Amino acid sequence: MHSNGLPSARIIGLGTALPARIMTNKDFEQIIDTTDEWIVQRTGMKVRHYVRSDEGIAEIAVEAGKKAMAAAGVEPEEIELVVLATATPEQPIPATAAIIQPALGVSNAVCFDIAGACSGFIYALQVVRQFIATGEVKTAMIIGAEALSKYSDFTDRSTCILFGDGAGAAVLRACEPGDGVLSCAWHTDGHYSDIIQMPGGGSKYPPHVKEHIEARLPFIKMRGNEVFKLAVRAFLEVCQEALGKAGVTTDEIRWFVPHQANLRIISAVGDRLGIPVERIYVNLEKVGNTSSASIPLAMGEVIDSGDLKRGDLVLMAAFGGGLTWAASVVRW
Ligand code: ACO
Repeated sequence: MHSNGLPSARIIGLGTALPARIMTNKDFEQIIDTTDEWIVQRTGMKVRHYVRSDEGIAEIAVEAGKKAMAAAGVEPEEIELVVLATATPEQPIPATAAIIQPALGVSNAVCFDIAGACSGFIYALQVVRQFIATGEVKTAMIIGAEALSKYSDFTDRSTCILFGDGAGAAVLRACEPGDGVLSCAWHTDGHYSDIIQMPGGGSKYPPHVKEHIEARLPFIKMRGNEVFKLAVRAFLEVCQEALGKAGVTTDEIRWFVPHQANLRIISAVGDRLGIPVERIYVNLEKVGNTSSASIPLAMGEVIDSGDLKRGDLVLMAAFGGGLTWAASVVRW
């Protein structure tokens, strides 16, 4: 482990939230030309949670954030920084992190959002970690929250089946070097910005223009096959980079917690890394692809399982629109 002597950041509490509404593969059979069998075989997914029609991400982000503070045993006033990762903010202005600040009670925190698509949670971890390393901040919160169902195109059977809604939050606190987050590797390649995208809804094609809606621009579009191939390679490389930076081997990793995009991608990466399936955490059958919420939702289940103790090493890795890809090795 290459310690630079600077304070490290440790996750001291994690919380998650899933909206109540359920969308099953059978439900999709009613609205698009698909089968439960195809979806399970090609993705591994069975069920996703959807927010209500009058709900964005604020409610679930607050629920996850409050649970994270309770698990960490910190008071809201102790939080100095909130970085919320999302591709589906509550509204364009202001930042969702600012909208939820009063409900979280984090009145002393600077609150802002970042857009890293599915890699957003690890991007947020890396951002917060820097402020902790410089001593600028001692206690911070990161949140990944999404309502992808609001932008799923229910006329496109190859994408709408993939996405679900949810939120996860973690409280981080300064700790000794060599503890907590041991490494982060993060990358972007904008040459591929069009293979996962939502072309409408921003300043180029604003959502209130009828022609943009008719052209189905404010919906998620993905060239799944191309993403698949790039995802396997990028996942693998970024995991190896994060492991190398932390100075640990895959044998030492207690849990590999990957972004839950597709069971076939996860299996291919696990195989190539040489991590046995018993140490790879998969929950996509229950939640689908929840983008920036994916890793904290899976981490929440790992914690609830009781099979994660202080000192265990966790490898988290994600891949998504941007393209973005990132991984982190964390000592629990
Ligand atoms: N039901 C039935 N058939 C379908 C469905 C469906 N829901 N969707 C597509 N098909 C059909 C296609 O039309 C095609 O039929 P054809 O051969 O007659 O043309 C056939 O199934 C195969 O289609 P592919 O697109 O080649 O299927 P593939 O095996 O690639 O699976 C999938 C598609 C699941 C999207 C896969 O490519 C994938 O998971 N890609 C990666 C997604 C990912 O990692 N995203 C991460 C980032 S997401 C983000 O950042 C927000």
